[in-house]
Amino acid sequence: MERRQFFRTGVAAGLLGASLPDSLEAITRPRRGRGTTATPTKLSSNENPLGLSPAAEKAIIEGLVDANRYPGDTRRKVIAALAEHHHVGGENIVTGGGSTEILRVAVHAMGLPNGRLVAAEPTFEDAPGYSAPVGIPIDKVPLRPDASHDVPRMRDVASRSDGPVVVFICNPNNPTGTLTSCAEVDAWITEATDNIFFILDEAYFDFVEDSSYWSGLKWINDNPNVLVSRTFSKVYGMAGLRLGYGIAHPTTVRKLIGVATRNNCNHLAGVAGLASLADRTFYRKSVDVNRQSRHILYEALRHLEIEHLPSHTNFVMHRIRGSLADYNGRMLEHGFRVGRPFPPMTDHSRISMGLPTDMERLADTLHTFRNKGWI
Ligand SMILES: Cc1ncc(COP(=O)(O)O)c(C=O)c1O
Repeated sequence: MERRQFFRTGVAAGLLGASLPDSLEAITRPRRGRGTTATPTKLSSNENPLGLSPAAEKAIIEGLVDANRYPGDTRRKVIAALAEHHHVGGENIVTGGGSTEILRVAVHAMGLPNGRLVAAEPTFEDAPGYSAPVGIPIDKVPLRPDASHDVPRMRDVASRSDGPVVVFICNPNNPTGTLTSCAEVDAWITEATDNIFFILDEAYFDFVEDSSYWSGLKWINDNPNVLVSRTFSKVYGMAGLRLGYGIAHPTTVRKLIGVATRNNCNHLAGVAGLASLADRTFYRKSVDVNRQSRHILYEALRHLEIEHLPSHTNFVMHRIRGSLADYNGRMLEHGFRVGRPFPPMTDHSRISMGLPTDMERLADTLHTFRNKGWI
């Protein structure tokens, strides 16, 4: 039997234990994170607790047969599908091994040589993380009291430099989950001088339901100084597969591709991405389940009168009492791995959404903590 037939007829699935869909279910779902100290439920990395779209799982199994080939065709298909999805041209899309690669190539392509990075604090660490090792100085601007980016101060800091300035705006922001006014960002982009390049990180775009929020995509046709980054890691549940992308003006895309890893859309991630994009049922389920889980956590936090930030994402930041190390240790003892420290907000814990049943258990745990006087 040919390899292709072997994978497609379900013989491979038979070897895995059962009929294809059932075996996939068994393989992917209940293996980890049972909520014990040894296998804690992972609420620490803003992943999707549903796993992959069933269509993506199937596409991966079927795609294994071509894993010996370089992924050029797959990458072209992913670019075409993304272009259609976003109503842009293929020349507006650059793929990445996760959107973190998009952040790296943007910082290096636009910040070198002699540039600086302006970013909020705290924000997602990767753009600063890619700047420091190559000697790009970082200007950190604290978030405002409402945890939005302090756009006026960021503008002021950026305006002090004549050289290249890369501005990283994470909207919604990680780790706070909060929004920054898109109108304010737009006003800055409209008035910015040519040396300022904007990375608009929209990793959590799909979870936002606030009508005052919009994507930066509207800029990319006319403004080569704006990049929008998106990911398959969150709403599509593909964090382990590594597929992200940037959307920008074609001249910008060409510069970014120049420093991106060659063949960076791995074949299995690519076929899973294509299937995920087409599976709108799974997409809606991801958004719905996240909303339900967030509601359960909000209710618990409100009931216990624990201060927390309004989240537009798949995680919520809430205030803790005492040390974060103690809090995280106690959470682990109760079967939950929660977020790492996000200085300077070490008096807060970031909790990523699990399934609603996970969040019910977490709510019970928070009540236990209150009874013990820990929160
Ligand atoms: C705001 C933000 N941007 C980018 C990323 C990187 O995601 P990935 O590389 O998986 O696309 C993350 C991951 O958590 C994130 O929170």
